[in-house]
Amino acid sequence: MTMHKKKLVAGNWKMNGTLAANEALVKALVGGLDSPACDVAVCVPAPYLSQVQSLAKDSAIALGAQDVSAHASGAFTGEQSAGMLQEFGVRYAIVGHSERRQYHGESDEAVSAKAAMALRHGITPIVCVGETLQQREAGQTDEVVKRQLAAVIHDNGHCISEIVVAYEPVWAIGTGKTATPEQAQAVHHLLRAQLHHAAGDHAAGIRILYGGSMNAANAAQLLAQPDIDGGLIGGASLKAPDFLQIIAAANQAMSAPRA
Ligand code: PGA
Repeated sequence: MTMHKKKLVAGNWKMNGTLAANEALVKALVGGLDSPACDVAVCVPAPYLSQVQSLAKDSAIALGAQDVSAHASGAFTGEQSAGMLQEFGVRYAIVGHSERRQYHGESDEAVSAKAAMALRHGITPIVCVGETLQQREAGQTDEVVKRQLAAVIHDNGHCISEIVVAYEPVWAIGTGKTATPEQAQAVHHLLRAQLHHAAGDHAAGIRILYGGSMNAANAAQLLAQPDIDGGLIGGASLKAPDFLQIIAAANQAMSAPRA
């Protein structure tokens, strides 16, 4: 039996939360997590980093940010540097989420500079790639995701083995339309080959998460795919029972015999 890679289940709270709601959510997660076999993280809005850092202290929940500046410091109003995030114990930073690409015009180059900055501060970037519905229908899925990942590979050289990739088809995000396990696996396989081409055997340890309407009901099937190493969960990460069920599905997938 081949070794299972440690799966990662990361919540992306997006712009949701209040002090009271976060406290209830994180307490329920900490209470319901029974030394999970998989890695678990929550990527929270920047103002709540400190709060969630204390709530999750000494638990299996790692702290994540939803973005990071490509710059080290200075006149960049509204941005947070990797150094600042590091001070709050941030372990992961999402970069290049489709909502940032779409609403903030982030280019592949900007995303790649952000990933580099995170890596320089010991923060694991969760690099998001994914096609729109229009691109999928035009048969451009492979080309789009490969281009998005290529930029990050190009700028990050051998550090690439330290990243996490998240395949998030834009048409599946927040829509309730999930990619089928076969559709997701096909893209994950393609990304895996691209990473292997760039980093050789070091690529074997890179986790490729699926994101886009992953929930308690469909997680097990998605996580059973050979190249799906975890999930980036939006909506379902705001409900403790659902998020815990996804974590349980990841634990289960890691203990299942490999086909
Ligand atoms: P969703 O979001 O699970 O609500 O579709 C996923 C994401 O955007 O990271």
